[in-house]
Amino acid sequence: MKKTKHLAVFASGTGSNFDAIQLAIEAGTLDAAITLVVSDVPTSAVIDKAKRKGLKTFVFDPKSYPNKRVFEIEIVEALQEAEADFIILAGYMRLVGPTLLHAYEGKIINIHPSLLPSFKGLDAIGQAFDAGVKITGVTIHYVDEGMDTGRIIAQEAVKVSDTYARGDLQRAIQVVEHQLYPATIQSLLQQ
Ligand code: GRF
Repeated sequence: MKKTKHLAVFASGTGSNFDAIQLAIEAGTLDAAITLVVSDVPTSAVIDKAKRKGLKTFVFDPKSYPNKRVFEIEIVEALQEAEADFIILAGYMRLVGPTLLHAYEGKIINIHPSLLPSFKGLDAIGQAFDAGVKITGVTIHYVDEGMDTGRIIAQEAVKVSDTYARGDLQRAIQVVEHQLYPATIQSLLQQ
């Protein structure tokens, strides 16, 4: 029998994508297990949620390390202990450094709330809204050393209705994210 793949979810925020992945696992539509949740924000809601689910967490404060290499060495140790196969970035608001990239080459995936290569970086939803585009969307991609530059795995478009306020667009994007991320992870795990 095939071994269930282990996911490490990295997040800094509310964790709605973490919830969607967790729910898909519980529903049996995603055949995987979350064996570690990593966060650089000790007070983040996602860490609370992970703890309530009894999941292992690795929480660190980047300011208490001399540089990225040092905290990423500790993250790699935690990942190895959790026997993580894939790293799933879900609102982890920092660039991944060479230490992690080399340890998990081709196994780090990110979700970004725009149709890349448009609107890279912070507040992609606000950028799209302010630009007045009529179509934006969601991208799932491999992570490389750049900011939202890795090879694209999946994309889905979201129409920006003329009646939308920024919050409406955010909600429409989230609906797509919560369906597309678990489904894309599942198809990657099947390969
Ligand atoms: C999502 O919009 C994702 O695309 C971006 O960060 C956000 C995380 O949201 N990378 P949440 O914490 O999963 O709700």
